[in-house]
Parts: sequence; structure tokens; C-alpha cells
Amino acid sequence: MGLNKQVFLALGINLIRRNQLQLTQLRIIQPWLLNKTLFQLLGYHRRQMKAKQELYSFIQNVVAIKRQDHEEKELQKAKGMDENNNKIDTKDDKNKDLKINSENGNEEEFLDIEYKNTKTKSFLELLLEIDHAADDKLTDAEILPELTTLFFAALDTTATANSTILLLLAMYPEVLQKVTDEIDSVFGGPDEDDGRPPTPADLHSMNYLECVIKETARLYPPAPIVFRQVDEEVPLGRHVLPAGASIMLTIAGIHRNKNYWVNPIQFIPERFHPDESVSSSHIRQRHPYAFIPFSAGPRNCIGQKYAMLQMKTVISTILRQYHLSPSPRFQTIADIDKRIRMDITLRMEDGAVIFQSRKQ
Ligand code: HEM
Repeated sequence: MGLNKQVFLALGINLIRRNQLQLTQLRIIQPWLLNKTLFQLLGYHRRQMKAKQELYSFIQNVVAIKRQDHEEKELQKAKGMDENNNKIDTKDDKNKDLKINSENGNEEEFLDIEYKNTKTKSFLELLLEIDHAADDKLTDAEILPELTTLFFAALDTTATANSTILLLLAMYPEVLQKVTDEIDSVFGGPDEDDGRPPTPADLHSMNYLECVIKETARLYPPAPIVFRQVDEEVPLGRHVLPAGASIMLTIAGIHRNKNYWVNPIQFIPERFHPDESVSSSHIRQRHPYAFIPFSAGPRNCIGQKYAMLQMKTVISTILRQYHLSPSPRFQTIADIDKRIRMDITLRMEDGAVIFQSRKQ
């Protein structure tokens, strides 16, 4: 995707977030708005339809651009040329199997992934490719809901996570120093870093950065709430959840529960240190569901391994090139808490302010 298309995408996401998410959120926290008549009378239905229309026409535009790109590429391929009008060299084009297994991997085994093809394709490109080969073509109406889910699930979450990680790093210079030292040990530091892109093995070795990412996701889970429908009656303490009830689970609340975390409101990446002698003094009780930024169970996040790689890539790339300095507006966790809003995804009311300067 070229730069213009990326800017277009970013603007679109902003539009989606502003309209769609805020209306959905409103109906969650003001359940009387679930009443259709009231929702219509108060003008929300009209706003929602307009937002949906904006969202769909935005995504339709993206699909149209990609369809056109794809068709041009297929045409070139049929002529034996690549997109830059060079003859395709089949020897170079063969799939390169690069299998990485984490030997001393962490609990999620983030890098237990097979990189089948170094020429990676986006989800939409894959859909269009499959579609191109199929007799029964997918319509835009079939592609749109798939893309909408991915837009919400993948882009907003990682964007929020990356900005919150940078904000916390800017606020905690001693943590930033440790992350910088780790990154320098991988890429050789300012004098030797030749700007090469990170390899999967580089990303795998960024253990302390991973602790920072997890601790940020504990304090500020990008998807702070999830919803479930209760299949059968569930006793819960002194209460009973009736079958059929809709429930909202606050991941953000679980992550700050003092039964599980020591000083839960403090930013302590060492909680996630693989060495228990380091982590245990910051954890009161280990429970499999005390840390669930990607949810848990059969409907958990399908993109969590990719998300971790993406966050490590983005943060390490920025830190290789920029110094971060704290903003006077964000000195403490309480300062962030005051400005954070729980939409379907977490969002900073007026953005995360971080001062940067380019490294020489
Ligand atoms: C920091 C980044 C991310 C966080 C915190 C996150 C979090 C979550 C959570 C909490 C859920 C579960 C929702 C539920 O239980 O109802 C979820 C679902 C999902 N996520 Fe992620 N996610 C992230 C990144 C991604 C990425 C990068 C992708 C795609 C590449 C992705 C794709 C999905 C999809 C498709 C679902 C729906 C799965 C289903 O309904 O079965 N997510 N995510």
C-alpha cells in the first residue's frame, strides 16, 4: 500500500472510531437506549445509519483500490512481468521456508510461527487472490463484514497499544533505558546500526520490550471490555447470572485487581519477567485469567502473535531512530487515567503527547 493509501486508511479509521464506536459504547453504558423506539426518537438511529454508511463506503473504496491493484498485477503476471514491468524470475520467486521455533520461548510462544513466504500478503490481498481463482466470486457485501472486523480488531488495538507503550516509556526513563540497551544489543547501537529491518529472531530476543508491552497491556488493555451471552445459569458469589443474560467483562478491572497484582496501579514491567525470582514479588496470586489482554477461551484474539510482532517492530524501529521525552501533561499513571476513555477500544481523549527528537 502506498503512502497516500495509508493516510487514507488512517483517516478512515479515525472516522470509524469517532462515529461507530462512540454510538455502540453509548448503548452499552446507557442500556435504556437498547429500546429501539427511544433510540430512534433521540436521533441516535439516524446517526448510526449515517456512521454505518460512512464506514462501509470507506471500506468499499479500499476494496475497489485493492481490486484494481490486484487485477493489474494479474494482468502483468499473465504477460510474465512483475508490477514494475520487470520479467518475473521464477528462481527468485520461489517460496522461502523460514521456520523459527522458540526454544526458550515465553508462555505464549509468540514466535512459534512458520514464515512460509517472505513476500507477505495482506488479508484483503489473500481474499482477492482466492476469489480470483474461485468460480463462485465473493461479492463486496461478503468481503465488507470480514474487513470491518479486521479493521476494528487489528488496527485500532495495535495503534492504541503502540501509542500507550511510547507514552509510558517516555514517562519512565529507567525503563526506556533498559529497552534501548536491549535494542542496541540487537542492532549494534547508534554507531553500528545500519538501519536493517528486524528479523523474526531479533524480535524474539527482545524479552524486556515484551515485558513492557505486557505491562502496558495490563494497565491499559486496548480492548478493555468483552461481551458474552450466558448459555446456562451461572452462580457468581452471592448472585446468579440467568441463562440468556448478556454480560460485560471488564478486562481492565481484572488487570488492576489487587488480589492478583502487587501495587496494581504502578507500572512495573518486571512483573512479566520470565524469571520467577524477579516477577513473583510483583504478583500476589498467579491465575490463568488474571492477565487476558487478548481475552481467553474459544473466541479469543486470533491475531495475538502477529500483534506482538507488530508492536515489537514498531516500538524498536521508533526507538532506533528517536529519543523520547516526557510531556509535562503526563507525569503519573493518574494523569493517563484521567484522560483515558473506554470505548470498545481504549482511547486517549486528546491523544498521547510524547516529545521526540531524531537520534544523530
Ligand atoms: C494489541 C493488540 C490486540 C489486542 C489487545 C486484541 C484483543 C482482542 C480481544 C480482547 C479479543 C476478544 C474479543 C472477545 O472476546 O469478544 C479479540 C478478538 C479478535 N482479534 Fe484481536 N487484539 C489485538 C490485535 C489483533 C490483530 C493484530 C488482529 C488481526 C491481525 C486481531 C484479530 C482479532 C479477531 C479477528 C478477533 C475476533 C475473534 C473471534 O471473534 O473469534 N486482533 N482481540
